[in-house]
Amino acid sequence: MEPKCPVTPGSGRGKLRALHREKAMTVEATHETRIAAAPSTGETIHPLWLRVTHWINAIAVLVMIASGWEIYNAAPLFPFHYPRAITLGGWLAGALLWHFAAMWLFVVNGLAYIGLGIVTGRFRRKLLPIRAGDVISDAGAALKGKLSHADLSVYNAVQKLLYLGVILAGMVIVLSGMAIWKPIQMQELTALFGGYDAARYVHFFAMASIVGFLVIHIVMAFLVPKSLRAMITGR
Ligand code: HEM
Ligand code: HEM
Repeated sequence: MEPKCPVTPGSGRGKLRALHREKAMTVEATHETRIAAAPSTGETIHPLWLRVTHWINAIAVLVMIASGWEIYNAAPLFPFHYPRAITLGGWLAGALLWHFAAMWLFVVNGLAYIGLGIVTGRFRRKLLPIRAGDVISDAGAALKGKLSHADLSVYNAVQKLLYLGVILAGMVIVLSGMAIWKPIQMQELTALFGGYDAARYVHFFAMASIVGFLVIHIVMAFLVPKSLRAMITGR
């Protein structure tokens, strides 16, 4: 019996074969494109500007978190204190000095990272698009330990979501920080957050989400050591 093609009912065997041949060629082409896109050994995965801004950012964020925790201890928002051993600055005034010094590093470096990410097209290539379906399937695969990290030049959907999320949290923490730093001069901004007290809570929860990201991020970096090496040497 001659098989009927489900796409074009009534077409003959020749047409069906042509359809299969065309499909096989597409699969082959996609496969080849993937191989071409994969980095050959020695190819740069992370350009120098990315590595420099990434590590400056890591230092600035750690200083901002540790000094922020000391500031928090002076007037806690919740019924707990951070242990002195993990805070920076020694007391409120010392911590504020650290916080405002690292603030410049964080903001200038962050603007350079975001500017270069947009101008070079890296964000578009590496972080977009994010599809809900991909996030769900990649998260499922990650939980089963079946998510491949073979090609470091391509981020999976969970990585894309987390990286874009932490960039967004970085913007929120800067804006809410400015709102509580200069609540009179920037009263429109402070009002946008619902006032000084609300902006403080926003600032706190942005910090908490960055800390949450960092825990997963650092654990993953050490579980996949070649990704850490690539973030240092570029390849
Ligand atoms: C432009 C950036 C920033 C500015 C202008 C800023 C400003 C401030 C100010 C003025 C305070 C004191 C709030 C108060 O009086 O209660 C504060 C607290 C704090 N900041 Fe920042 N900050 C910035 C970025 C960051 C970053 C990047 C982090 C951490 C990732 C951070 C974490 C904290 C924490 C944990 C507190 C204590 C929370 C509280 O009790 O209010 N800040 N920040
Ligand atoms: C302090 C320890 C840190 C370590 C060991 C670390 C490690 C790494 C590694 C290995 C990668 C490459 C990931 C891959 O190829 O799969 C990476 C990328 C990235 N990290 Fe970190 N990181 C640290 C801190 C931070 C901090 C504090 C932030 C932000 C708050 C951050 C944000 C990012 C982002 C956004 C990327 C993607 C960069 C891009 O491709 O544009 N990292 N990190």
